[in-house]
Amino acid sequence: MNTNITAETPVTHAPDATIGVPYLRCIGCDADVAAPTEDFACPACADRLEVAYRRHGAPDVDLLKTLWHARKLSPAPRDLSGVWRFREALPILPAAFEPVTLREGNTPIYPLVRCARSAGVDALFAKHQGMNPTGSFKDTGMTTALSMARVKGFQWVGCASTGNTSASMAAYAAHASMRALVLIPEGKIAWGKLSQSLDYAAITCQLKTDFDGCVRVLGEVIRRFPLYLLNSVNPYRLEGQKTTAYEMMEQLSWEPPDHVIVPGGNLGNSSALGKGFREMLALGLIPRLPRLSIIQASGANPLVRSMKEFSGERIQPVRAETRATAIRIGNPASWKKAVAVLRETGGACEDVSEEEIAIAKAEIGADGVGCEPASAVTLAGLKLLVRSGFVKRGESVLLVLTGHCLKDPEYTMDFHRDAAAGHPSLRKPPVLLDADPASVIGLLNRMEM
Ligand code: F0G
Repeated sequence: MNTNITAETPVTHAPDATIGVPYLRCIGCDADVAAPTEDFACPACADRLEVAYRRHGAPDVDLLKTLWHARKLSPAPRDLSGVWRFREALPILPAAFEPVTLREGNTPIYPLVRCARSAGVDALFAKHQGMNPTGSFKDTGMTTALSMARVKGFQWVGCASTGNTSASMAAYAAHASMRALVLIPEGKIAWGKLSQSLDYAAITCQLKTDFDGCVRVLGEVIRRFPLYLLNSVNPYRLEGQKTTAYEMMEQLSWEPPDHVIVPGGNLGNSSALGKGFREMLALGLIPRLPRLSIIQASGANPLVRSMKEFSGERIQPVRAETRATAIRIGNPASWKKAVAVLRETGGACEDVSEEEIAIAKAEIGADGVGCEPASAVTLAGLKLLVRSGFVKRGESVLLVLTGHCLKDPEYTMDFHRDAAAGHPSLRKPPVLLDADPASVIGLLNRMEM
């Protein structure tokens, strides 16, 4: 075995091609923030931060595209990562540090043929972020933010989570020999996700509260204990997550679709993708922005309410309830960034019912692709946007599926076993038969009729 794998030489960084010198900028007062608070707020106005880049002339975009593509053939870990492959668009790590990577990113785009028919569009595609190493999009941001924790010399990292952030953080921390603290809401987390956190050896605490309560507790912990916060208020997480937009454009030959549709929970992902598209437009990598629409569960819809009731000017936290536990969030941290993305791209913001989510999830499964419940809000939302005329039949649409089908098998089993709930053509419960070929063939013959 080649134990020298980290010594492989990466395809050279092109210094002239970087998109600029990174710094932390406050999205509220525009200040250049050298020393953020432990929870990544602006010390002056307490608003959220983002990584901005001071440009030094226009980069050679053709060189960038060639370089990013060429790295796909390199054996070096940082080239094999679908995030660090785009490192000219990321904060630069000091030379002594290798990124902490599990080969995240490089996820497929699949056609969804039956889903297109049921939604009423000519063609439909899904970028499946559930095909990341721990089964969700969180890995693309974890590699950048956890690498940063290491650069800053932290031993401990921590997050509050509905399950996927914690699974991802636990894996990356273990891989980097760091210690991980996970705070999750008791009883409202899918077993696939909880088991990952245990398997990756994190200290896992189930708190008697919801996700928003876990965030509050962790906020106090980091003020009293040297622990690096890996929730999506950490701007380095969003930098990694934005590369999904870069990768998507590379896969589509730098031609943006008309619509990109994402689920909305804490609103980090929609903010990150929007930032990626905005940067690519400014750099001249793409000719226009796609409309980026955000879909929430109707029981956890604070952004939808903010847009409809307050025109996105403020947000009223809600008591969140949905079986799509990943997005069971009532007080989203990145709502201001998400509002900016909706305004800039002209996207829609809608919510969908529990039944619509369940049907959409089964339809994505029946296309052979599958996803977890939170991801299925994208298809349910698309149907709604087609009905309202916001999405036209001939337009190109890409759904971002955020988590893998195996994350929440209990949800899937409950759906298929609930014969009384209608939609018989979608429900495929297991059939109990005698152990003889005649019973099986009898069943097949009945299916043929
Ligand atoms: N889809 C999945 C599968 C998720 O796990 C999440 C968030 C979202 C969508 C929403 O993304 O929060 O960036 O708007 N999960 C977080 C967690 C909150 O802790 O795993 P968002």
